Amino acid sequence: MKILGIESSCDETAAAVVEDGFRLLSNVVATQIDIHAQYGGVVPEIAARSHIEAINPVIQQALADADCAWEDIDAIAVTYAPGLIGSLLVGTLVARTLAIVHHKPLYAIYHVEGHVYANFITEQSSTIQPQLELPPRAPAFPMLALIASGLHTQLVLFRGHGDYTLIGQTQDDAVGEAFDKVAKMLGLPYPGGPAISTAALNGDPNKYSFPKARMSNTYDFSFSGLKTAVLRALQREIGQDYTFPSHQVAEQLSEAQVHDFAASFQKVAVETIVDKTLRAYEEYQPQSVVIAGGVAADRELRKQLRQQLPIAIEYAPPKLCGDNGAMIASLGYYYAQQNQPVDPYTLEVQPVISMRDTAWANH
Ligand code: KG4
Ligand code: ZN
Repeated sequence: MKILGIESSCDETAAAVVEDGFRLLSNVVATQIDIHAQYGGVVPEIAARSHIEAINPVIQQALADADCAWEDIDAIAVTYAPGLIGSLLVGTLVARTLAIVHHKPLYAIYHVEGHVYANFITEQSSTIQPQLELPPRAPAFPMLALIASGLHTQLVLFRGHGDYTLIGQTQDDAVGEAFDKVAKMLGLPYPGGPAISTAALNGDPNKYSFPKARMSNTYDFSFSGLKTAVLRALQREIGQDYTFPSHQVAEQLSEAQVHDFAASFQKVAVETIVDKTLRAYEEYQPQSVVIAGGVAADRELRKQLRQQLPIAIEYAPPKLCGDNGAMIASLGYYYAQQNQPVDPYTLEVQPVISMRDTAWANH
């Protein structure tokens, strides 16, 4: 079964064709990073407008790369939630229209769950480049998933496809958002995750110490305190008090200070999510542990989990960790095994909806 996956929930316009949930036939991502970088973050109106310009060419390219005509496509899967409303609307309206015009079943996919399914892509057709370093097999259930992106930080226990429980989530900022905000304070470019990760390579992770948030639910997260602690330490470092504006700090820092702050922040942010993942592993004893979302590309996170988990940590290649259509098409396949398609005339987007309300398996 070949599924066309469409993703436009934030600042990536993406489409891909995946066969039977695991074989990648094409994967096209048009990123808007360069456009938003000049503003230091995603501007929702600009994101929506850019999706409108990019979406048709991106879908055409995904079909062409997969060597597919419309009659070869069995279904369309599209991200309908959560995300920026204007961005979500573009992908869903295009998917609805294509489903009607080409008489294809349409499946509505929850983006955060989609990230996890990047880990289920285990083969790619030899005709598409670049060749990715894919995992040899799909993760086994029960599976513990750490989802860490620019908008989400969640620990989820999957008993089977669509059968999952949210065991913890951030109560304020997502971990990726903390990376992005700290990067901004340090004068590093957007998106902050890769920039911090690279700057940290040359820094001392023990130079500055920051507190870890204590939460009433063991598996919940909080990153806004860490972000403020970094700002206060930066202000102290340059001899200023707490009223000094965060956007003027960077110009007074040396390169070595930037590297040390990046490394010290990254250490605490990563340790926080690793500690909770290890604890959840001990309690639930899953068969596999996967990481997903943009932050899953972080070297330090991968390293700490590799060293500390009793079983092998599983992750997708960096190209499939950020937003993409392949993860949506892969989940679309498993979803289609147990669910009816949605009505393309009435599908609505859901910008804000919790993972607690989205499990779908009917067993
Ligand atoms: O999954 P994603 O592409 O989009 C969302 O659904 O949010 O995640 C984007 C986030 C950004 O906050 C970005 O800074 C972070 O992932 N990120 C990283 C790395 N690459 C991207 N964080 C840490 N290390 C990286 N290498
Ligand atoms: Zn995402």
